[in-house]
Amino acid sequence: MARVVTAIDIGSSKVCTLIGEVTDADVIRVVGIGMVPSRGVSHGVITNLEEATLAIGESIQKAERIAQQTVTRAYVAVGGPHISSMNKRGSAAVGKGDRPIDREDLQRALDAAQSMPVTHNRQIIYCAAREYTLDEDVTTKNPLGLLGYTLDVDAHIITANATSINNLANCIRRNHVDIIEYVPQPIASAQAVLSAEEMNDGVAVVDMGGETTSMIIYACGTPFDTHVYPLGGSHFTNDMVVGLHTPVTAAEEIKLRYGHVLTSAVGADEKIDISTFGATSLSTIQRRYVADIMGARMEDILDHFILRDIKRSGYDGLLAAGIVLTGGASQVQGAAELTSAVLQLPARVGVPRRLHGLSETINNPAYATAVGLLLHGMRRETIDKPIPAFESNPKTGSRLLQWLKNILPR
Ligand SMILES: Nc1ncnc2c1ncn2[C@@H]1O[C@H](COP(=O)(O)OP(=O)(O)OP(=O)(O)O)[C@@H](O)[C@H]1O
Ligand SMILES: [Mg+2]
Repeated sequence: MARVVTAIDIGSSKVCTLIGEVTDADVIRVVGIGMVPSRGVSHGVITNLEEATLAIGESIQKAERIAQQTVTRAYVAVGGPHISSMNKRGSAAVGKGDRPIDREDLQRALDAAQSMPVTHNRQIIYCAAREYTLDEDVTTKNPLGLLGYTLDVDAHIITANATSINNLANCIRRNHVDIIEYVPQPIASAQAVLSAEEMNDGVAVVDMGGETTSMIIYACGTPFDTHVYPLGGSHFTNDMVVGLHTPVTAAEEIKLRYGHVLTSAVGADEKIDISTFGATSLSTIQRRYVADIMGARMEDILDHFILRDIKRSGYDGLLAAGIVLTGGASQVQGAAELTSAVLQLPARVGVPRRLHGLSETINNPAYATAVGLLLHGMRRETIDKPIPAFESNPKTGSRLLQWLKNILPR
């Protein structure tokens, strides 16, 4: 019998519930989609319990009606600028070299990595092994079955504000749905748009949503650095309200129809008619003016947030696979070209991996998080072996990265 996986992504612009059926061949088929505009959510965080509970309920019910099944448990994405990450090392004694390392040993090492004190209002929501070191000598992604004395793990840990998590949980539970697991939004989006090769070679996924933008760096197959910023597509719109003196609804429409972030790619003769505050008739402006406004905002996000944190991570110049943009706002024309020019890296817009079933609607960057959640849930319910580090090219370890850093020009 097919197992059912449900994913709920509560974004600043939309709430999306996806119901998938995992077939015996470990293929997921989307059987229910419930998308409703967000309410009671600001910058990815619940700010009005009643409103958010209702919006989440509507989204779940829509998906249930299409799938003709009731949702009782779900994987839930956690987004918002309260998310932060760190890399920690944990150690576990594994015997006297006389017995093979088992999954319990891996878990003990991971538990040790997470044993640092976190402030009372923080909660660890994600911890994944990056790589293991056996007896300070052998570095491996999967030490299961090896012999040794001490096992060290380098883990990527993501924490979130406990209050935000509690409020999120409250909204979901009020809809009679149990939470199976919280998945950080950047982790989910990355699962939907990255290939294993990109994860191995070094890549940053930038998910530009309605009111937040997240950035996650993957290297050697595993997440290394995670950030969420309080800036998104609504900032493009608000900039136009101010710059063009046009109401929000008109600014949003201009953004969707005529938006561009590369002024040089817009013809000097392209004109658009816009309504402005206080005027009784439409005004005509150059479309290039829209591109000036949107391009300035995009450059600001790329330069002051994305590039700054790539540099801080130490991966500046080492992201061979470049940048994968996703999220609804990444669809603005010129996004990949401008990103590539500002960051001096290859860039593409990532559409979520195509799933079976009702996948037409969700074949869009705005659904990267929801699709990634579904894929994450499927792995958990089928073949998942979450403890060993992501099986990647075992030769590309941190020492090679250090060596590359030393020889590459900065
Ligand atoms: N073609 C487009 N061009 C520019 N912007 C677009 C386009 N399509 C959608 N957007 C913008 O994408 C944003 C919504 O993106 P998305 O659905 O990923 O947000 P979200 O996941 O609900 O929010 P968040 O992740 O920030 O909490 C809106 O600001 C919308 O205007
Ligand atoms: Mg989002």
